[in-house]
Amino acid sequence: RHEPLVLGIETSCDETGIGIVRGRTLLSNTIASSMDEHARFGGVVPEVAARAHLEALQPSIEAALRESGVSLAEIDAVAVTSGPGLAGALMVGVGAAKALAVSLGRPLYAVNHLVGHIAADILDSEALPLEYPTVALLVSGGHTSLLLVRDLTTDVELLGETMDDAAGEAFDKVARLLGLPYPGGPHIDRAAASGSAEAIRFPRGLSRASDLAEHRYDFSFSGLKTAVARWVEQSEAAGEAVPVADVAASFREAVVDVLVTKALAACADYAVPRLLLGGGVIANKRLRDVAIERADAAGVTVRIPPLSLCTDNGAMIAALASELIMAGRPPSTLGFGADSTLPV
Ligand code: KG4
Ligand code: ZN
Repeated sequence: RHEPLVLGIETSCDETGIGIVRGRTLLSNTIASSMDEHARFGGVVPEVAARAHLEALQPSIEAALRESGVSLAEIDAVAVTSGPGLAGALMVGVGAAKALAVSLGRPLYAVNHLVGHIAADILDSEALPLEYPTVALLVSGGHTSLLLVRDLTTDVELLGETMDDAAGEAFDKVARLLGLPYPGGPHIDRAAASGSAEAIRFPRGLSRASDLAEHRYDFSFSGLKTAVARWVEQSEAAGEAVPVADVAASFREAVVDVLVTKALAACADYAVPRLLLGGGVIANKRLRDVAIERADAAGVTVRIPPLSLCTDNGAMIAALASELIMAGRPPSTLGFGADSTLPV
């Protein structure tokens, strides 16, 4: 089998990711993040992200080529995230990918960002090959999605997603409520270390019997965020210090609990003994620990790619295109555009 040399471009959020793969082998994975520029706004500002991509793309492509020891002329195909994501940010990547593919005279593959997250697993050289079917839980600052993967290139089904905030976004917003810096995840994690997860019983979104009928695999974190806000307000109104460690630990537990419960419910419902985790929130050790512990008890094997492949990156986009090429799928025609709500 010919192993294509693919350059992948990812610009759906605040990471400019360029990855180069040969078949299933990772050659380089360059990431430039505009996160610092968003910090003072407490969240990703779309216009700022788009401009940052524009500035970072060319040097990132050069760095990825250097790192992999590959020349542009050797590239067999170009891959790009066409959605879902921030419209302006996606457009920068799509435009650059088209220009690159046309100038090199190479095929261009437009791919779905969420399916790309799943493809990241293929680049994990330490792991056994991905088996099908598998349930995938993708949690980041931009998405919280549960998918059933019967085949990476032909059959990925969205089972559910967040109805409001993404899980990472909830971490970021709650951190802000607690006076912790952006991005909130790592700071909440640190604060939670000295708190009790049982101190406050925060709500688990869409988990009541009445919600489960319609939203069994969907998530909601806005009620949780409001509950934390109310807690903070009440402490302050009572003239008491906010118990930051307990709030952080109890909040984290609520998020982790609902993510793992719903992911394992999908595994049970579809009789799938495999769960793949992806997205930047996987950096949360409590989430990994609870997922592994409860999956183990349920006879489900958990797969977690290295964190550098879990956060947004170009290598996963190149990996997915590489799979499409090896499966004999034709490239995209150049008429496609960025699609901020692209379905899987
Ligand atoms: O995948 P990612 O790097 O990129 C975007 O979604 O843009 O994910 C970033 C998100 C942020 O919301 C951040 O707060 C969250 O992942 N995050 C964490 C942790 N580390 C990062 N959330 C919880 N616990 C962590 N340790
Ligand atoms: Zn992502």
